[in-house]
Amino acid sequence: MEHQIAPDDRWISRRRFLSLTGQAGLSTLVLSAGGSVLLARPGRAAESSAAGGVREIALVAKETRWELAPGKVIKAWTYNGRVPGPAIRLRESERVRIVLKNELAEPTTIHWHGVDVPNPMDGVPGVTQAPVKPGETFIYEFEARPAGTRWYHTHFQEHKQLDLGLYAPLIIEPADRDPFPYDREYTLVLDDWATGTGRPLPSTREGTAGARGGMMGGGMGGMMGRGGMGGMMGGGQHPAYDTMTINGKAYPATEPLRVRKGERLRLRLINASADHTHVIRLAGHRLQVTHTDGNPLVKPVEVDALPIAPSERYDVQFVADRAGAWFLYCAEPGHPGAGEQVAVVYEGHEGRIPEAPIEGTIDLSLWRYGIGRGREVLPAPTTGRQPEFSLTLSGGMMNPDVWTINGKQYPRTDPLPVRRGDLVRVRFSNVSMEAHPMHLHGQSFKVLAVNGRRLPAPIVKDSVDVAAHMGTVDIEFTAHNPGDWFFHCHKPMHMEGGMITLAKIA
Ligand code: C2O
Ligand code: CU
Repeated sequence: MEHQIAPDDRWISRRRFLSLTGQAGLSTLVLSAGGSVLLARPGRAAESSAAGGVREIALVAKETRWELAPGKVIKAWTYNGRVPGPAIRLRESERVRIVLKNELAEPTTIHWHGVDVPNPMDGVPGVTQAPVKPGETFIYEFEARPAGTRWYHTHFQEHKQLDLGLYAPLIIEPADRDPFPYDREYTLVLDDWATGTGRPLPSTREGTAGARGGMMGGGMGGMMGRGGMGGMMGGGQHPAYDTMTINGKAYPATEPLRVRKGERLRLRLINASADHTHVIRLAGHRLQVTHTDGNPLVKPVEVDALPIAPSERYDVQFVADRAGAWFLYCAEPGHPGAGEQVAVVYEGHEGRIPEAPIEGTIDLSLWRYGIGRGREVLPAPTTGRQPEFSLTLSGGMMNPDVWTINGKQYPRTDPLPVRRGDLVRVRFSNVSMEAHPMHLHGQSFKVLAVNGRRLPAPIVKDSVDVAAHMGTVDIEFTAHNPGDWFFHCHKPMHMEGGMITLAKIA
C-alpha cells in the first residue's frame, strides 16, 4: 500500500498510472462544477465509470487569490484554485483514485470525512501516512462508501489549512434508489473566516446543535449563554472570525439558488467552519431533514431551522410552493450580516430582493438529535464483545490552548483498544465550557442518548456535538474497519490543543 511517488516523478502521467495499477480501462478525470452542484435529473447526471475501471481525479493544493465578497480578497489555500474545492460525486462502491499534488509551501494531506476508507488512505499525518511535502504527489485510492453527503479536507495543521479553504464536498450516490427522491439539488458549504476586515463574531461556545435537545423543548434550543462578548477572543484561543461564507462567497457575492414552482429541492449542508455552529433557515418555507451526516432517516422530520455544528452535514428537502425570492440564511445573530445568506429565487421572480433575514430562533422549532429516527445502516457486530469507554472532555480553563480527554493531551491520551466486529460504546462527558463536535474516522456510529436521555430511535452520524457545561452523549458503533482511527474534536483549535485519541481496531 505504498502510494507515494517521488517528487521528481512526472506529475500524473497516464503512463505512470497504468504502470502503478497494471490495468487499462481508466475513466477520465471527472470534476463536477464547483461547490454548488445542480442536477436537473438527480441520479442520472453522475458520470458512470467503465465497469472494472477506476475513476481518476486530480487535485492540486495551491494558494489562490480569492474574492470572498467585493473588496474582500484573501490568499486562500485551495484545491484546484477555488473555494470550496471541486465537488467529487461518486456512485456507491465505485472505485476512485485521487491524485493529490501539493503546490503549497507546507506539507498537507487529505481526509475523506465520513467515508469508510482503508486506514492507509485516511489522511492523518504521522498516523496513517507521511505528510505530503511541497512538490510531492500522493495517490489516494478507495471504494466510495457508504452513500451520502461526505466531504474532504486537509488534515495537516487544520487550524491553519482548513481555515484557509482546503475543503470540498464529496457526494456518494446510493447504489439503489434514493429513499427521498427530489427534482433538483444544491450543495452548500458553510465556513467562517478571520479576514481582519470586519467586526469579529462571538464564537459558538455552548453548542446549538441537537445536543441541547435532551433537556429542552422544541423552540428554545439555541442562542443561550454565548461566550466571547461582541468579538472578544475569549482568552486568545479563537481567531477573530468576521466573515461567513456559503460556497466560498459572502453575501452579496453568494450565488442565488434558482428554483421552479412545484419542484422538490434537496439541499446538502456541510459545515466546514472551525468554530461556529450555524442555524440554517429558509424564509417562507419549512425544511424537512432527511439525512444526518449523510445517513438516511426513516422518514423526514420537518423543522423551521436546523443547527449544524462544525463538521456535521444535514440533507434537507423543501417543496418550492411559495413563489418569490427568499433568503436562505443562518439565524445566529450577526451571521447574515457577515455574509451568511443566499437568495433563493423562483423562476419568473429574478431580480427581486428578498426580505431581510430575521435573526434569532425564539419560537422556531429547531432540529435536535432526539427528533429523528435513523435507518439501520451500520454493519452488525460479530464478536459478541461490547467494550465500553468513558471519555471526559475538558480544558480551556487554566490554559485556553490545552484541551484534554480523560485529563490527557494527545499524543498522551489513552487509545481505545478494540477488536474488529466489537460493538463499542463510548460515553462523552463534557466538563468544559465549550461544545465539542466529536468525530470518529473510518466508521459511523449511532447516537443513543443525549444528556442522559435515551433517544427514541438512534440516528447515525460521524460527528456529534457534545454540549458545554456537563453535556453528555452516548454513542455505539460496530468496529468494522481495522486500523488506527483518529477520534477527535473537530474544532481545529481544540485538536491542536490535544483533544484527540485513537480507536485502535485490531
Ligand atoms: Cu473531518 Cu479528523 O476530520
Ligand atoms: Cu472541542
